[in-house]
Amino acid sequence: MSDRKQSQPEVSDLEWWQRAVIYQIAPLSFQDSDGDGKGDLPGILRRLPYLEWLGIDVVWLCPIHPSPMLDFGYDITDFCAVDPLFGTLDDFDRLLDEMHVRGLRLLLDFVPNHTSSQHPWFLESRSSRANPRRDWYIWADAGPDGGPPNNWLSRFGGSAWTRDDRTGQYYYHAFLAEQPDLNWRNPEVHAAMAEVLRFWLRRGVDGFRVDASAVLIEDDLLRDDPPDPDYEPGKTPPPQRLLRTFTDDRPEAMECLAMLRAVLDEFPKRVMAGEVQGKTDRIGHFYGDGRPCFHLPLNFALLDTPWDALAVQATIDSYLRALPDQAWPDWVVGGHDKRRAAARIGQAQARVLAMLLLTLPGTPFFFAGDELGMADVPIPPEAVQDPFEKLVPGYGLNRDPERSPMRWDASRNAGFTSGQPYLPMGPDVTERNVARLQQAPRSLLWLYRSLIRFRKSEPALIAGAHQPMRSVDDVLMFMRMHGDSKLMVARNFASAARQIALPGSAELLMSSHLDREPEPLGATVALRADEGVILRLRK
Ligand code: GLC
Ligand code: MG
Repeated sequence: MSDRKQSQPEVSDLEWWQRAVIYQIAPLSFQDSDGDGKGDLPGILRRLPYLEWLGIDVVWLCPIHPSPMLDFGYDITDFCAVDPLFGTLDDFDRLLDEMHVRGLRLLLDFVPNHTSSQHPWFLESRSSRANPRRDWYIWADAGPDGGPPNNWLSRFGGSAWTRDDRTGQYYYHAFLAEQPDLNWRNPEVHAAMAEVLRFWLRRGVDGFRVDASAVLIEDDLLRDDPPDPDYEPGKTPPPQRLLRTFTDDRPEAMECLAMLRAVLDEFPKRVMAGEVQGKTDRIGHFYGDGRPCFHLPLNFALLDTPWDALAVQATIDSYLRALPDQAWPDWVVGGHDKRRAAARIGQAQARVLAMLLLTLPGTPFFFAGDELGMADVPIPPEAVQDPFEKLVPGYGLNRDPERSPMRWDASRNAGFTSGQPYLPMGPDVTERNVARLQQAPRSLLWLYRSLIRFRKSEPALIAGAHQPMRSVDDVLMFMRMHGDSKLMVARNFASAARQIALPGSAELLMSSHLDREPEPLGATVALRADEGVILRLRK
């Protein structure tokens, strides 16, 4: 970004989603209002004052549509309705209105790759080879040996093909057998899914997070995927035995995503974020080559990087360098498919992570509970819900631990539900909940809130250039600059004190320990264990 200084915008020139902090909510796990042990839309409505207090701008909601819930809402039977579990379409409208009144925005999860096997489209498609919707899904004859058409694997274990006895053909599913893939080579599917987007855009949603976007299209010759040379039997989960050369990130998928973006652009001021495939080297192309695609291809690189200053610096710099000109960066530090960061790096470094997330250039995303330092909640074998863990057990793939419900206070079930929570609440709920941490002004929760506020007050953090500095002695540093303002952020990854030389005199503005008043500094700054600081450099 440092070489893009020439295009330094004012904060007011930026789009709302470039200035925003985005907060992910898995509705099942946020707030129950009717005692069924599962969160719902009226529950979220009730908690809007909390979101305002925290200072986030945008919520992206995991799916809320009618679903048999075999993959927790990612198996959808009607894209244009709300599952009764979550409430009604009226509840949705009320939530959206109330969010807009409060200046909050809402992104929905859009799942274009597959439907539930109970979706009426699939019921029709499977009913006969002659059904007009037959070609809405991917059907193929058995392979030469009478088995599946080829070697493609489901991410959730076993063949990606399931035989349907009624017509004797196989259908393809990148995920569960109960999640058949739509056929994105069929223009009728495009038209139907475009209407789904319009349905929600007309209702006023501010955009979407597009699920599993890179797997929309597979090779039309159905060529076998090659073996992955890095596969280690017993160690690598079996679904990763093959390289997904012919099933993932096919060039044709980009055309579909560009089409979805064009639909979005029929409406002013909306945004499209996308779950994309591959590492940093692939992320650039999801912004679109020629035709625009995602505004925000989700970048999980920080979660996949060893937690030391040099590795994190390398990750940041290579990601920013990999972005095409004009592409806006983003950073995701939690999600419903990912280990909790606090579990991986510990509570002390979770504060360093918060300061990193909210001072980097680009749109920050975090997952409800990250601001409490929620760790992965242990799930006893009999309580496992996630189909991934059930089908591919023993590889640590269970996603239930990070989906444990939000904790609000020290009352029964932490105020999440008056019933039986659908996942365990976790061992440390009485110490680690919203009410408790709100009363502790130096808590991680206050740190998130303070950093969000600070970010909004400093154009350098939102619109400023980013200038990497060399990490020394476990301290990761960079500068953010806008106009005359020059901020330096230094974060100590070590659990021991460090001393850092400064490029000039400076003023300390904020410590991640939240216990320092603004103070002038000389030629150095002393960092305590696990401390991050934001400084203003004098000219
Ligand atoms: C995405 C979702 C994940 C889901 C999968 C299948 O990766 O984030 O939770 O299981 O798609 O829809
Ligand atoms: Mg409920």
